[in-house]
Amino acid sequence: MNLSVNLGGIHMKNPVTVASGTFGYGQEYAGLVDLKKLGAITVKGIRLSPWAGNPLPRHVEVPGGMINAIGLQGPGVDGFIRDDLPFLQKRRVPVIVNIWGTSQEEYVEVAARLSDAPGITGIELNVSCPNVKKGGHTFGQNPRTLARLVSAVRKATTLPLLTKLAPNVPDIRVYVKAVQEAGSDAISLINTIPAMAIDIERRKPILANRSGGLSGLGIHPVAVKLVWDAAEVATVPLLAMGGIFEPEQAIEFLAAGATAVAVGTANFIDPSTPVRVIDGIANYLKRHKMRTPAEIRIPR
Ligand SMILES: Cc1cc2nc3c(=O)[nH]c(=O)nc-3n(C[C@H](O)[C@H](O)[C@H](O)COP(=O)(O)O)c2cc1C
Repeated sequence: MNLSVNLGGIHMKNPVTVASGTFGYGQEYAGLVDLKKLGAITVKGIRLSPWAGNPLPRHVEVPGGMINAIGLQGPGVDGFIRDDLPFLQKRRVPVIVNIWGTSQEEYVEVAARLSDAPGITGIELNVSCPNVKKGGHTFGQNPRTLARLVSAVRKATTLPLLTKLAPNVPDIRVYVKAVQEAGSDAISLINTIPAMAIDIERRKPILANRSGGLSGLGIHPVAVKLVWDAAEVATVPLLAMGGIFEPEQAIEFLAAGATAVAVGTANFIDPSTPVRVIDGIANYLKRHKMRTPAEIRIPR
């Protein structure tokens, strides 16, 4: 049996990473999980300068998952390189850095600075952020803006580049085609789904930001459908995420056409989930007399 996969140039010893924003910068989970067992570590989103995120409360549990509006709090690219990267470099696990910005120029600058730092394996673009210069619409919701962003970042780095797609679009295939043609080496999906919860006694939105993004078990079937549709047109590997709590959900993504998977919200409940998912995939392969995760994929 060979669990290793190649995610657009990122060589992972097994197909399981963690979803950005649910595993800090790795160090926070080091006492709870054997980090070297992971196929890769994907860190929380980084922008050019340090960022405080949104006011509290910024997350709430709801039936089937949670809604968060953390607002991408982070130390900025230089703070990450100085304070967090040295720890990750020593772990001998591929490091995927999730980045964001409020302009194309900012993404390009962050990607360029990360490319000059040693020990980073890949860059994942979070495109579910407002394009401030262009009226505040998110980069991920206009295929032309998105393609421009991906090709600009592509020129700024030789590192493997993943683009993380937003789920709330009319046809995911349009976005898959746009980013792969623009030079993305792999595609991550899905980011959280826009959502809101209201305190009916106080008659106020629960989150200070009013709305946020839904994640967790409840979004899993939505993500499976989007991965299935994306796989129809994808010529680059897919990294699937959305409500993986047990190995079964990860295997479902591999069946739908993903090359690798990421565990997100489940890390807050049981940090051993990614390792349990790796073992579960291995057991499944054994039971079905398969040799590689790619064999799980359903033929079309
Ligand atoms: C608290 C929290 C913070 C997140 N932060 C980021 C982030 O910084 N960048 C990003 O691309 N996605 C971020 N996400 C989205 C996750 O990476 C993932 O795409 C989503 O939660 C779906 O997976 P899950 O249902 O397994 O959590 C965040 C999700 C949560 C719950």
